[in-house]
Amino acid sequence: LIVDASQGASRPMPETLFGIFFEQEINHAGAGGLWDELVSNRGGFEAGGPNTPSNIDPWSIIGDESSVTVSTERSSCFERNKVALRMEVLCDSRGANICPSGGVGVYNPGFWGIFLCQNIEQGKKYKVVLYVRSPGAIDLSVSLTSSNGSRTLASSNVIASSSDVSNWTKKELLLEAKGTDPHSRLQLTTARKGVIWLDQVSAMPLDTYKVQGHGFRSDLVEMLLDIKPRFIRFPGGGCFVEGEWLRNAFRWKESIGPWEERPGHFGDVWNYWTDDGLGYFEFLQVGLAEDLGALPIWVFNNGIGISHNDQVDTSTVLPFVQLQEALDSIEFARGDPDSRWGSVRAAMGHPEPFDLRFVALGNEDCWKKNYWPGNYLRFYYAIKRAFPDIKIISNCDGSSRQLDHPTDYYDFHVVYTSSSNLFSMSHKFDHASRNGPKVWAFVSEYAVTGKDAGTGSLLAALAEAGFLIGLEKNSDLVEMTSYAPLFVNVNDRRWNPDAIVFDSYRQYGTPSYWVQQFFAESSGATLLNSTLQIDSTSLIASAISWQDEKADKKYIRINVNFGSNAVTLRIYVDGMDPNVARLSGLTETVLRSDNVMDENSFENPEKVRLLFLFLLENAGEDIEVELSPHSFTS
Ligand code: AHR
Repeated sequence: LIVDASQGASRPMPETLFGIFFEQEINHAGAGGLWDELVSNRGGFEAGGPNTPSNIDPWSIIGDESSVTVSTERSSCFERNKVALRMEVLCDSRGANICPSGGVGVYNPGFWGIFLCQNIEQGKKYKVVLYVRSPGAIDLSVSLTSSNGSRTLASSNVIASSSDVSNWTKKELLLEAKGTDPHSRLQLTTARKGVIWLDQVSAMPLDTYKVQGHGFRSDLVEMLLDIKPRFIRFPGGGCFVEGEWLRNAFRWKESIGPWEERPGHFGDVWNYWTDDGLGYFEFLQVGLAEDLGALPIWVFNNGIGISHNDQVDTSTVLPFVQLQEALDSIEFARGDPDSRWGSVRAAMGHPEPFDLRFVALGNEDCWKKNYWPGNYLRFYYAIKRAFPDIKIISNCDGSSRQLDHPTDYYDFHVVYTSSSNLFSMSHKFDHASRNGPKVWAFVSEYAVTGKDAGTGSLLAALAEAGFLIGLEKNSDLVEMTSYAPLFVNVNDRRWNPDAIVFDSYRQYGTPSYWVQQFFAESSGATLLNSTLQIDSTSLIASAISWQDEKADKKYIRINVNFGSNAVTLRIYVDGMDPNVARLSGLTETVLRSDNVMDENSFENPEKVRLLFLFLLENAGEDIEVELSPHSFTS
């Protein structure tokens, strides 16, 4: 491998090269995942399905019909969230109908029924919020218990006089756990006869990321921080953003403002309900775009449903909802605090505009419906007129032909394929057109899938590393890349494989995750000219350098051996500035394992991970490296 490190032969790679694609609701990535709400259908009591508009699942009743009855009523104080729970307690602590010990009421088992529910840890504090109303005095016990209610882990009481709660009243409690149980539940019980209405019951650990008691699961955010994403594409791909049917598409306006006022919606592609606690604002701010230091890439619906069950006629796309909604969303993110939607953002505590520079018009719908071209152009021109500097991403692939519509970026996806195919696609952009007006490429979804991948194999990760090396070499054209999907809750695996695997209390990265971590330094690094002197279909290398300010070191990193034989590689580095950065050592980083199909697991989370092996002092300009079969070495 000849590496030319002289300045003339190198060029900077885009600052945004490596980012993440966060599809909010697939695999319970958001609800029951990164969003640390422990209560499922958190008390809006309005979770619906495709055919049932409203239900209280998975809330269940404690007590039999002689002691308690439960029903829903449209009597909540929240206008966009009208359903409340009415609980009539028929028993009492004395008299003829004595309540069972522990009282009667309701419980919420979290997201996974009796299999895996809410994770409660000894010594940790939990914030519970609920809204309550009653014509009489109440004594309501709020507790976190084991999955069958037999062991109380934490408990507190809401005691109030009838005048306190004759109107809807918000109650907030802090519960400290005296025990640990990853399979626990939240109970609301009483042994006092009367009627109680409940609404909007939320429970979150106090140690949510940055914002106490309301926000993201810290351990999962830490994993994102480790891969240093430069952008975050959200809230989804076609499936979440567009919906099978447009009526089930993500609507940003219903995902902002106080959480109690968010109606939630049913995602009809991945088939589950989300309360939209993680909404447009949270993506732009808390823990995600701003806290990760990642630029937001906002994907919105352009009037086409993903499975193309329905579409909106171009002539009505503006007055209907989509186009105006899109323009308003940009104003919400970047408008002046005095503007109509900028003021809503300011009222949510963020007067400074967010740094929204990119929007994607739809997903996977290029030319798929009659109204697509008309809709695309209406969106494109309306956005450019209102926000000339916003960069627009089309989801038509421009790598093999020049596009017939204006755009700043084209989205090259979906690359979900076998390992050999993805590895060979490392050359995909070598010959892509560089003529005509500059249009950048965004490789927004890729992964090895199928039998090569299992639920996340080394083989898959190596092919992805090879593909990414190819993208680095073509980063004069490719400006952004993101692996997909990012998260999977093992209790609801709708898509396989994924980068980060978790349950209610554990998490690990698949080998693909470790590859992402490895490439974290590439964004903004310098690409050096490098040539492999052998003809190989299983070896690929790029040479990049970057300065680690803290360690005052300049790194050069190199290659993947996808083949089943070991390779001895001699590396010649020319043109290093001898005064500044002579190669003085070699740190070898490898991703390898005994078997190419090895995977990580909760039991063995780092079976396949990056290993930092050794440091050779004074290695000089020429280096010999042994590349193990099926390995990624640097
Ligand atoms: O990443 C999973 C799905 O793949 C996305 O929802 C969609 O954009 C693509 O088809």
